[in-house]
Amino acid sequence: MSKRNYLVGIDVGTAEVRVGLGEPRPDGTVNIIGLGLSPSDGVRKGVIVDLDKTVDAIATAVDEAERMAGLKIDSAYVGLKGLNIELISNRGVVAVSGEDREIREEDIDRVMQAARVVALTMDREIVDIIPREFIVDGFDGIRDPLGMLGVRLEVDALVVTSLITSLHNLLRCVNKAGINIRGLILQALANAEISLSPDEKDLGVFLVDIGAGTTEISLFQHGKLQKMAVIPLGGDHITTDLAAGLRINYFKAEELKREHGSANLTYTEGEPKIEIKTVGSNELRLVSERELTGFIEPRVQEILQITRGEMIKLGWPYLPPAGVVLRGGVSTMKGIVEVARQHFESNQVRLANFDVVGVQNPIYSTVIGLLYYAQHNQPRMFTAERGKSAKRKGSGFWQRLKDWMTDIID
Ligand SMILES: Nc1ncnc2c1ncn2[C@@H]1O[C@H](COP(=O)(O)OP(=O)(O)OP(=O)(O)O)[C@@H](O)[C@H]1O
Ligand SMILES: [Mg+2]
Repeated sequence: MSKRNYLVGIDVGTAEVRVGLGEPRPDGTVNIIGLGLSPSDGVRKGVIVDLDKTVDAIATAVDEAERMAGLKIDSAYVGLKGLNIELISNRGVVAVSGEDREIREEDIDRVMQAARVVALTMDREIVDIIPREFIVDGFDGIRDPLGMLGVRLEVDALVVTSLITSLHNLLRCVNKAGINIRGLILQALANAEISLSPDEKDLGVFLVDIGAGTTEISLFQHGKLQKMAVIPLGGDHITTDLAAGLRINYFKAEELKREHGSANLTYTEGEPKIEIKTVGSNELRLVSERELTGFIEPRVQEILQITRGEMIKLGWPYLPPAGVVLRGGVSTMKGIVEVARQHFESNQVRLANFDVVGVQNPIYSTVIGLLYYAQHNQPRMFTAERGKSAKRKGSGFWQRLKDWMTDIID
């Protein structure tokens, strides 16, 4: 297999930078051959606050994945977080150009271009256009109109826009770490690729990703991403609360949270047997799981309550038919599903299951989602030398994005 067939994904998370390298298999799966991880001290609440530290973290994680796979990485798909992203619903309409009225690549390309005409403020840039459905001569619900006959082609699309500064910083860090950007992928799409079943995506489901600095809420229905909201709260806030509550340092609090923490007081032990040393004192003290959880539970409740509020704002006072799927580091906390069921007033809440892609460690799930998304959608994302179907989705747009990136990075 030639080198350019390998897929590489980079997830610049608040807790860690993760890199995944995989080999696409003909059956649509990806054989993971390299993984790399490095703490991302330069990211706070999902935002890059220190470029140099972030560049170092990316370079270290890339290095680790390269050594594991025995390959050199030169380009990658980069995950784009929901923070600072806005989704705008828009329509594009064109007349089918061929005399025989057959819809061709060029028509789809033109209608996608028409859909990207939206009013933007100076501080935002379009990063992707996701078609939700095509409409041919008034018949809606068409997923792929290529080869159909018609006179009028319409698309109902989601225009993904990002705040230029945050996008610029992310791209600059990846480039400075010596990696070219092959494409940007919304992490919500990558996560959905491996965490949601096609049926769930069709019926309607909320994917809730509770990370270290942010909680991302994405609604999928009719097989597509429909809406998104982001809350700047996550596991970091739980750790900070615990550190302040017990008067211990942050790293110790993080360790205790992962080892003994629970989202729910109900199932905790009251016996004090966990040793801690409070800041400014050398004396050891014993705390119970219950005392620990007393500092964790309120923040978990707050995150879930605000999540519910965001769902209502998105137009869902009741859960969609397939309910909620929880993912992200915080979702591995004991008892979280029960608490979420109470907050969402429904039993339709489950944890994402990554066994389907052979991942035991959910830490890498977003990056592996990026590889799967790239494997399934890659031909549609680029124009140059990637075969005919490559023209479909991005066309001139991706070229312009690349040109624009080159402009801002140089
Ligand atoms: N077993 C566990 N119990 C409780 N919390 C955990 C556990 N494992 C991980 N976490 C928490 O999950 C968070 C990391 O999650 P994740 O890796 O999804 O975040 P991220 O992708 O780096 O951040 P973000 O998406 O917000 O930028 C951290 O706050 C960490 O403490
Ligand atoms: Mg994340």
